[in-house]
This record gives sequence, C-alpha cells and structure tokens, in this order.
Amino acid sequence: MCGIVGYIGPGDAKSIVISGLKRLEYRGYDSSGIAFIDDDSIIIKKKSGKVSSLDSVVKKDKIEGLCIGHTRWATHGLPNDLNAHPHFSMNKNLAVIHNGVIENYLTIKEGLVNRGYKFVSETDTEVLINLIQDVQTNEKTGLFKSIQLALSQVVGAYSIAVIDKKNSEKIVVAKKGSPLIIGVGNNENFIASDPAPFLNYTKNVIYLKDNEIAEVSASEIKIKNIKNKSKRPYIEKLNIELEAIEKGNYETFMLKEIYEQPKAIVETLRGRISSDFKRTRLRGLNENIDFLKNVKKIIIIACGTSWHAGLVGEYLIEGIARIPVEVEYASEFLYRDPLISTNDMVIAISQSGETADTLSALKLAKQRGAFVYGICNVVGSSIARSAGVGTYTHAGPEIGVASTKSFTSQVTVLILIALYLNTLKERNSSIKITELTKELVQISDKMSRTIDDINDKIIKISELYKDAKNFLYLGRGISFPVALEGALKLKEISYIHAEGYPAAEMKHGPIALIDKNMPTVIIATNKSNYEKVLINAEEIKARSGKLIAIVNKNDKQMSKIADHVIEIAETNNFLSPLITTLPLQLLSYHIAKMRGCNVDQPRNLAKSVTVE
Ligand code: G6P
Repeated sequence: MCGIVGYIGPGDAKSIVISGLKRLEYRGYDSSGIAFIDDDSIIIKKKSGKVSSLDSVVKKDKIEGLCIGHTRWATHGLPNDLNAHPHFSMNKNLAVIHNGVIENYLTIKEGLVNRGYKFVSETDTEVLINLIQDVQTNEKTGLFKSIQLALSQVVGAYSIAVIDKKNSEKIVVAKKGSPLIIGVGNNENFIASDPAPFLNYTKNVIYLKDNEIAEVSASEIKIKNIKNKSKRPYIEKLNIELEAIEKGNYETFMLKEIYEQPKAIVETLRGRISSDFKRTRLRGLNENIDFLKNVKKIIIIACGTSWHAGLVGEYLIEGIARIPVEVEYASEFLYRDPLISTNDMVIAISQSGETADTLSALKLAKQRGAFVYGICNVVGSSIARSAGVGTYTHAGPEIGVASTKSFTSQVTVLILIALYLNTLKERNSSIKITELTKELVQISDKMSRTIDDINDKIIKISELYKDAKNFLYLGRGISFPVALEGALKLKEISYIHAEGYPAAEMKHGPIALIDKNMPTVIIATNKSNYEKVLINAEEIKARSGKLIAIVNKNDKQMSKIADHVIEIAETNNFLSPLITTLPLQLLSYHIAKMRGCNVDQPRNLAKSVTVE
C-alpha cells in the first residue's frame, strides 16, 4: 500500500527520494509524488501511474536540503494526479504525505469548511494538513506543537511526514498504527515506511512508536509523544543485506523468492531444533510454558496467504498436538464479538506485520485476556510489537506482492509450534516426533530438488493452459489449504479465475463447471486419502475435464488417469505443504508470465494492506 520516503541532508535529495520510491513500488500503488522547498516556497510534483512517470516530471528540478516522497494506493478518492500525495495546506505553507486512514476526517472537514477552508482533493490527508494549518494559525504554535495538537483530534491510523516552507531545516514525522522508520545517517537522516529506500545509505534505524512525533533535521532527531513527553531515540541496527531486496540474476522478485524457499526454511529452523531432534526451542513458547500446558483452544487469525498458512496450522496443531484450533479471517473475527477466554491462545500470522485487520483483531484478543502470539516476517513490525511475544519467520524480505516464501516459512513455524506443544504434554503419543523432526531438518533439500526437477515440465503445461478462463484446485486433508493457496496465487498474478476446493466437496457444486475446457489441479500425495482422491480424479475425467496431478515420485495410479503429472519429492504428510505448494507457485508464475502480466506488482493488489 502507500509508501513514505524522505531525506534531509547535503546529499542528492531528489535521486535519493526517487530511487527510494522505486524501492517502495513493490508495496502496490497507483500514483506518486514529491515535495521540496525552493526559494521559500514548497513545490509539489505528483503523477498518477508509475514512479517512472513522476521521474519525467521532476527531471529538471534541482532539489537541495530536503525532499519527501510518497506512493499512494487509493482509499479516499480516485487514483488521479489531484488525489496523489503530497498535499498542500490551503495557505501552501505546509505539505504532508500520509499512510493510513483518518477515520473522522468528514467531521473534521465539516468544521474546517465552516471556517472557510477549501479542498482540492477528495482525500482524508488534505483534511489533516488543513487541520494542522488551522491549529498553527489559531494557537500561534510552531509546526511540531501544531501537529501534536492536531493529531490529538484525529481518530484512525497514520504515519505522516510534514514540511513547512518557513523551516527548510526539518521534517516532522508522526506515527500511530502504521509504520514509520527513521534511518540515521552521518549528518543526514532518512525517513521511510520500511527500510528498503535507505538500506544502501544506513542500517541504523529508529522505529518510531505509536503516538510519537519526531523532528528530524540533518544532524539531530528529537522525539516526543503526543502528550509532549520527551523520548530518548533508541537506535537499532538492521540485519538486512542490500542484495536481499534486489533481484540479482532473477527475472522477477517472485521467481527469486520461489527459489529462495529452501534457504528461507533453513533460516526459519536455525537454532530452533535440538541436536537429538527431540525438542523444539521457541523462546516465546518457553517463556509461557505453564500457560501452554493448560491451553484450551488456539485461534489463528490472519488474512490472504497467511490465512492459508493458518489453515495448514489447524491440521498440524490438531494432528500433532491434539489441541482444538479455529482459523478465522482477521476481518471477520473482529466484527463478530468472538468468544475468547483467558485459557485461549490467539496466534496472529502476518508476513508484513502491518495488515490492519490482523493488527486490530490481535488487539481485540489481547483486550479480552487471551494469550496473544505473533508469527511475522518483518522484524519490529506493528503486529510483532503489539503481540510482544511470538516467532519471526526469518524468511528475509519478500518483495513480490504474491506471497511465496512467507507461506512456507509460516507453515514451518506452525510445524515447530505443533511439535513443541506435543512434547510439552505428549499430547499425541502415536506421532514419532524424532522422525518427524529429522525429516523437517532435511526438507529444504527435498524442496530444492523438487523445484529443479519440475520447472521445465511446468513451463510446458503452462503453455497448454495459459488461455484457460477458469481453474479448479483440489486437495484433501492438509492439501486442501494448499489447493486454496494455489488458486489464490493464480488469481492474484494471472487474473484467471481460480477456485480451491476440498476434493470431495467438488461434487456438491464445482463439478457442474467441468468440461473439456476446464483444467483442474489435484494434489494426490497423501497416502491416507490417496484412494479417495483417485475417485475424485476419475469423476473429473468422466466429464472430459483436463487434469493436472501433483503426485509423489514413482506414482503409479494417478499417472494413468491424469493428463499431466508433476512428480515431487515424497515427505511426511504433515510436512507435505512445504513441497506440494511449490508446483502450484511455479504454475501460476509461468502462466502469468506467458500472459504478459506483471507478476511482482499485480494490478490492484498491495503487499502490505494497512487499511481495514
Ligand atoms: C495482501 C498481500 C497478500 C498477503 C495478505 C496478508 O493481500 O497481497 O500476499 O497474504 O495481504 O498479508 P500479511 O502481511 O498479513 O501476511
């Protein structure tokens, strides 16, 4: 979604901000803009479309001292030049960029209109900057104080950066519920909504906390909270290398991230399994061992791909640890007055750690006394901080909008949690924990081999089906959520309609769609339900449907039924999603590429969905 970047210092402010905006493109956006001060006036340049269109508009500008820039993902008003950020205050003394949503903007706007303010855009952001102007004019306060006072009237989530034409020596930033990071340089400072824009300049960062406001100049950073209490800036060192956010030799980020999965899993597992394979070590669980011995129910909340990982988690935790699990879309959980008790554990899963629905759902669970646990990829993200306890996936930055390595690393954490909870009470003694854990440690090799083995075949299959209008994905048991994830991947990046279904449920509806033009992808790798899946496959072939089957190496029966089989490395049923998901990711990838789609930045989608 929206992205913020800013620079103050002696460097080339324009190119730092424009290249920073390009590094934020992956979040998903529809317009971009910058603001800077020239000859005691604020200049704003903005354009709908890609940052490259903005590039041409600012080509001739010389920008010195400071510059702020923004990529917008429309919430209030169309994605056009007018609604793009930055926005001026009516007197043109101030300019703002803003991520998030000001929920009470209409009420504030009404008051401002009554006091003679005029608006040129439909955005909530322009309301906020005029509110700041209004406070500044009436209270005769400086920029910092005016922002403090204005924000105390605001309901909603925001991270903002404001500049004042009367003071070109500073940028004032503030945050509540949406991330804002200050990159601390040597006589220069950076601001951004994630560290990607300034990673090649500094790794020293300050994560601004909710309700904090910072005055950033080239040589100094002063932080206070909304109630004017001074805060000592706490500088942390980022543990991300620049190549982690670059494509390297890959054509796209998504392909890089698909190939990175075996390595990501190794990182997820690092230091978390004892050398005799008997114990898993997760600090967040260890510290709450007494609670966990008596936990009654686990509720998993998430959105999108993370929700699919949560569904896999349900099979894992119920199967391995025998604790009841419910999985909910965070947005639904939030608005149905859920029954939560103090004996429940609520796990929030989120790659970005910023998804607004998941964050709000987590806060609700916390308020109601549940033990709240976060599974996030982005270190220091809002969900990780708000949960206070949890496990990082350590998959490395994921830039492609469609989640790939995040899914498999989230599933890996859920496997670890299930194993941990089993050993805590031997909740399911029929599971051979040591064997399962050993297999988990070796799974990354099987994943690598599978990707190498299947890629060429999947390219050929993609050629045959790239023009299909609909796709059906079927799986049973733990492969059902994998089927859902496969369908989501195809939908997201190729814009082909796709549905995931439990294989047996197909005959209660989707079977009506099957004809010679309808491809079905079926996952047939699990021994416990293999025969049943074969029957479902026959039902499809009996109606002339086209069948692509994901099978274990040396499969005999499905190969006779399906039009195409994709053979993957065999593993334990509980671990199978880590491998079965690979062919589905590659299939959607190649189909989308063949259709000429932008796989890294699919239309209308955003990487980090910071509005409810
Ligand atoms: C967006 C992304 C998805 C992601 C979902 C949840 O829709 O495009 O790829 O699965 O948000 O994001 P999260 O960061 O909470 O995992």
